Amino acid sequence: MLELADVLAAQDRVAETARHTPLDYSHTFSSMSGAEVHLKLETFQRTGSFKIRGATNRIATLSEAEREAGVVTASAGNHAQGVALAATRTGVDSKIVMPEGAPVSKVKATRNYGAEVVLHGTDYSEAADRAHEIEREEGRTYVHAFDDWAVMAGQGTIGLEIVEDLPEVDTVVCAIGGGGLISGVATAIKGKNPDTRVVGVQAEGASSVAESLDKGEIVEREGVNTIADGIATRRVGDKPFEVIQDRVDEVVTVSDSEIAVAVTKLLERSKTLVEGAGAVPLAAVLEEKFDYDDGEVIVPGLCGGNIDLNVLSTVVLRGLIETGRYLRLRTVLKDRPGALEDLTEVISEHRANIYAIRHDRTSRNVAMNDAEVELDLETRGHEHAADLLDALEANGYETDVLV
Ligand SMILES: Cc1ncc(COP(=O)(O)O)c(C=O)c1O
Repeated sequence: MLELADVLAAQDRVAETARHTPLDYSHTFSSMSGAEVHLKLETFQRTGSFKIRGATNRIATLSEAEREAGVVTASAGNHAQGVALAATRTGVDSKIVMPEGAPVSKVKATRNYGAEVVLHGTDYSEAADRAHEIEREEGRTYVHAFDDWAVMAGQGTIGLEIVEDLPEVDTVVCAIGGGGLISGVATAIKGKNPDTRVVGVQAEGASSVAESLDKGEIVEREGVNTIADGIATRRVGDKPFEVIQDRVDEVVTVSDSEIAVAVTKLLERSKTLVEGAGAVPLAAVLEEKFDYDDGEVIVPGLCGGNIDLNVLSTVVLRGLIETGRYLRLRTVLKDRPGALEDLTEVISEHRANIYAIRHDRTSRNVAMNDAEVELDLETRGHEHAADLLDALEANGYETDVLV
């Protein structure tokens, strides 16, 4: 079982490699939630996520012979970069197997941190099979992303930093994928401040822990589907599950739309870039997925900022749609000169901005002398969007809201 002493020992080992990341009071999210929200900005960690903590601690516990033989792991994301840099900084050779379709930016970053990258397989599990072959062939140590006591202890150093910087913390909120992060954090928090609550959060499309806790045994999902790729795991690890059962107070879920809104709000209000998994804890606070009191001191852990730019643009657009800031609608006009101008006049009177417009008189969806129009509009929120739709209706336009 993982104990506070393991996390304290890890803190000494990771101190030189991992940063003590800032804890930042957020006026915006405090006033939105009524709680006192302090963000743990692990996005500023080296390699952009907490993974370097666990990897550094694991590598520090290798014997001399194991250090000589090097390490191997499989990952398409943050763990790859964490292991690569942790190994390089401690003079250990690393091989990382990434699926062939891994984003080029992540492959490049992992190589730049000094690892040899092997591209293999179509998904994580094929990459992991290859990594285990390399483990056997080359005698390397496999560094598991979460089901490993030393990795869990390393991740727990985030919890120590939180209680050092904010001893009065009431609740710490943490994302769960394989469970390595929360089990380390919960061990640190309960060891130092037994009354502080630890809440775990999963994406709806990758949730299994609440059900596993209910059943008293690990439940494995058939598949996963979420924009939070860092926590898209089918099941929690055996070792983390033991700790979660003992030390995590509550586990809740958030939807992808709620995650997209949290990513967008963090960018817009806090100028903080997080990946989907990094936004999950704040999403749970803002959506009140667990009960908390006014003025309760809450720390959501923003544990990663490595988001692909293509994914980011989609997530932000989804966030804008969810908050009524982007509206796509369809209407039908008479195919006559001036009809489009009349429509845009109503829109401009209501101060919505046209982002894109498609006017199609050949559409089979409408009569021969009509034209179909699709508009992408920037609006100022749900109320503004609803006012605009009312005004269009009052002016005789029938509209379908497409997104
Ligand atoms: C940003 C981020 N948050 C949270 C997690 C969850 O960590 P764990 O798999 O240890 O539960 C991950 C895992 O990769 C992650 O990348």
